[in-house]
Amino acid sequence: SDPVMWRDIFVANRQAVLASLDDFEAGLARLRQAIESSDGDAMLATFDRARHARHYFESLLNKTSYQAEYQMQHQGKLRYRVSPGGAVTGRIRVPGDKSISHRSIMLGALAEGVTEVKGFLEGEDSLATLQAFREMGVAIEGPHQGRVTVHGVGLHGLKAPSGPLYVGNAGTAMRLFAGLLAGQGFDTELTGDASLTKRPMGRVADPLRQMGAEIDTVEGGRPPLRIHGGKALKGITYDMPMASAQVKSCLLFAGLYAEGETRVREPAPTRDHTERMLQGFGYEVHREGDTCWLSGGGKLTAAPIDVPADISSATFFLVAAAITPGADLVLEHVGINPTRIGVINILQLMGADLTLSNQREVGGEPVADLHIRHAPLKGIDIPVEQVPLAIDEFPALFIAAANAEGVTRLRGAEELRVKESDRLQAMANGLAVIGVEHTLLEDGIDILGGGRVDGHNYGGGRIDSLGDHRIAMSFAIAALRAGDEIIIDDCANVATSFPGFIELARKVGLVLEEEAAEEGV
Ligand code: S3P
Repeated sequence: SDPVMWRDIFVANRQAVLASLDDFEAGLARLRQAIESSDGDAMLATFDRARHARHYFESLLNKTSYQAEYQMQHQGKLRYRVSPGGAVTGRIRVPGDKSISHRSIMLGALAEGVTEVKGFLEGEDSLATLQAFREMGVAIEGPHQGRVTVHGVGLHGLKAPSGPLYVGNAGTAMRLFAGLLAGQGFDTELTGDASLTKRPMGRVADPLRQMGAEIDTVEGGRPPLRIHGGKALKGITYDMPMASAQVKSCLLFAGLYAEGETRVREPAPTRDHTERMLQGFGYEVHREGDTCWLSGGGKLTAAPIDVPADISSATFFLVAAAITPGADLVLEHVGINPTRIGVINILQLMGADLTLSNQREVGGEPVADLHIRHAPLKGIDIPVEQVPLAIDEFPALFIAAANAEGVTRLRGAEELRVKESDRLQAMANGLAVIGVEHTLLEDGIDILGGGRVDGHNYGGGRIDSLGDHRIAMSFAIAALRAGDEIIIDDCANVATSFPGFIELARKVGLVLEEEAAEEGV
């Protein structure tokens, strides 16, 4: 364009242009050095950042966003076809923990310095978080085989994104983002897919408003969320009406930007990955009994993160092995944070032969190898204090219950109705299809297991996962003890939390295929 204009721009912005040229020269010098010393990793990192930067510029120019691309990828629907029977043996490692993966990017982006993450979950949910930070100007390399490098910009270094931040199916992303975006100097809009758009956001918007944030939701407190930046936040003491780690984490993130202390009381223990990681990044978080708190105005210092395998993904294989005669399976390097081990406690109460070995701590989170062999299961009354500790594991645990002798009773689990689907209803529908006797309640379910029709525990049939990853995977493992094939519709969202599920399931001995399905067919 006009050279006279460019001359004037450079004259008027001398300092800024010189600083940019210095940055550019330093980048070229680093690349030169990498080429000279044949440092392949450094070259890969540079080219990777370049590719993402270019992609980011294109999205700015075309005014498209991650949203458009994501929706293109999801136009087709996937169906699983699982043959009855099969084995569960071997040694596997399931992908990285979803909760920890989200937080690794969030804290890495807001820290000062470079955060190296390994074991990152390359699932759509955590990738949506990663992409959202790229759209706010954070340079992130990878993921390459679970390795991600986040170039932190500090608590006040994010830039306004060019359009709405689309977080797909990820409730964790939307709720945690709400907290940290409430503290920024710019406005943002958070959108999600059809499932997320139905989920309640008032649980985060209300306390954030008490802190001084300005947030718009649509009717019923649903997404999209419009967050108005530039508001001064002040710390509050908040008594959470439900046991939610997402609400707690959202408020702690907002608390980083608030004046004074932000205190959250939880009615029951919820996962504490946020508190652990904040501490790992040098930010003081206090806890006394059921209350945790922090003070605003500190800073985060980058620290390496080693994400353990996700106990929620491991659950499908734990239940698969527990219900299948002859099964013998080891799940390696699984996160066993005490706030997440409800599934281990519940399966052991049901009589599962499940042992932990090689217990160690990596990056502030406890991990172990889990060894499980088949043993007859019995129905139990699930202790109510285990419910928040196993909240994501109930769809799979219902399949364990369907294979146990006698009745399993769950109460106090109304939160299941507001997950990626209404999980109580979705599971009850599916159990009805395959012929498992049950009684559905507002806050739980009774499941009568061990039906034993011709040596099988139930029949087959066609299940609607309602687009919920955990419903889809639960009925896939149910086929191990079914009398007939189980077909599961709407399975594309398994990729949100468990990329490679089909391959791992086949590896241990399940017989399943995935096929493309036209909408409505
Ligand atoms: C999560 C917390 C849980 C869980 C979700 C992930 C998190 O939700 O169901 O899958 O990463 O904080 P709630 O905190 O709403 O119970």
